[in-house]
Amino acid sequence: MAEKGEKGTRTVVLGVSGGIACYKAVELVRLLVREGFAVQVMMTRGAMEFVTPLTFQALSGRPVATEIFSLTQESEIGHINLADQADLLVIAPATANIIGKIASGVADDLLTTVLMATRAPVLIAPSMNVHMYENPILQENIRKLKRLGYHFMEPVEGYLACGYEGKGRLPEPQDIVEQIQGLLKKKDLAGERFLITAGPNHEPLDPVRYISNRSSGKMGYALARSGVRRGAEVTLVSGPTSLSPPAGVRLIPVQTAAEMRQAILQGYSGATAVLMAAAVADYHPEKFVAKKIKKGKGTLRLNLKPNPDILRELGMKKNGQILVGFAAETESLIANAKKKLREKNLDLIVANDVTKEGSGFDGDTNIATLLDRRGAVHPLPLMSKDELADRIYDYLIALKKRREKE
Ligand code: CTP
Repeated sequence: MAEKGEKGTRTVVLGVSGGIACYKAVELVRLLVREGFAVQVMMTRGAMEFVTPLTFQALSGRPVATEIFSLTQESEIGHINLADQADLLVIAPATANIIGKIASGVADDLLTTVLMATRAPVLIAPSMNVHMYENPILQENIRKLKRLGYHFMEPVEGYLACGYEGKGRLPEPQDIVEQIQGLLKKKDLAGERFLITAGPNHEPLDPVRYISNRSSGKMGYALARSGVRRGAEVTLVSGPTSLSPPAGVRLIPVQTAAEMRQAILQGYSGATAVLMAAAVADYHPEKFVAKKIKKGKGTLRLNLKPNPDILRELGMKKNGQILVGFAAETESLIANAKKKLREKNLDLIVANDVTKEGSGFDGDTNIATLLDRRGAVHPLPLMSKDELADRIYDYLIALKKRREKE
């Protein structure tokens, strides 16, 4: 969600310049509106050759600004008003021409004039033919603008509409949203280095089978996403999931609990906090059968051996790190969570009753209770996993402040 409450709804003023990637800007508006942003679109004449203002108007719910010398638009929207209302100004797609104009201080249409007048941060997402992108004039312009504090997103490599292969594609709208969220977020976790685990483990039985659980990884990925947005350096040790890693996260993919342990122990001394959201497999098959197990007539018995408890091990080796554990319970929620907090030497535990509606394993929401080692118990209402991630970090920051005072 866009950060509401502190300053109300965040406004993104989106400048669309004329390239084939304009169609992706349509999706970008849809996603931003869904995230709770107010979106005000401005289009260059070139952009209107590709997509009509009506499309953007329907999706943003606001009239689209296209002309600087239009009496009606100037009185209804106004270029200075546009510049002032922006919490962030985004240009996507940005053509070589528009970047050249901005870098040279030209303000000869609505978009470039608003850009000149705004005091909001600016994010530019170029998209063009690969040779245009590599052109030293454009590269010089980008370097100049970066020096002046403009933010850029690199175009992505791939097949380009002009028929070439190479760097020039507009990043996926979801990645642009991610970047926007990051730029608008308070950087209150700057300097933190988080090790976060997510997802289930696969404990192989034979070449085609494994033992696992129903964890989706969504909580760990939400923590990773929110951590990066708030300025932390995040390493995400993830079991197999169907999720794509949030931009800016260092991903270490693992399968088994043993691999997860290995990756965490390697990063532990350099981390300021570990957040163990993974549903670590408690057992693995005693022996891995090299050939596929064929079915027989009788009962098949599996012998399972316990996996090491990673969090417990971290708790024993703790050296200043904040340890956050998760407890998924089906009964005696608080008592079980308190026990785990104590036994694993944690600073904070996030407990949730997985039998409750909205608090299951694979959902987008959670109903959690936060418990700390001083005995405080904070029940939270139903919320998205993204919101919960933010609440966990708020708590972590408060814990750190208290620790500094003690
Ligand atoms: N955990 C871990 N290593 C394990 C098992 C769990 O690091 N082998 C971590 C989980 O990532 C979680 C916390 O410990 O943060 C609690 O996990 P949970 O499975 O709920 O607790 P257990 O101690 O395994 O107890 P039980 O399964 O009996 O409830």
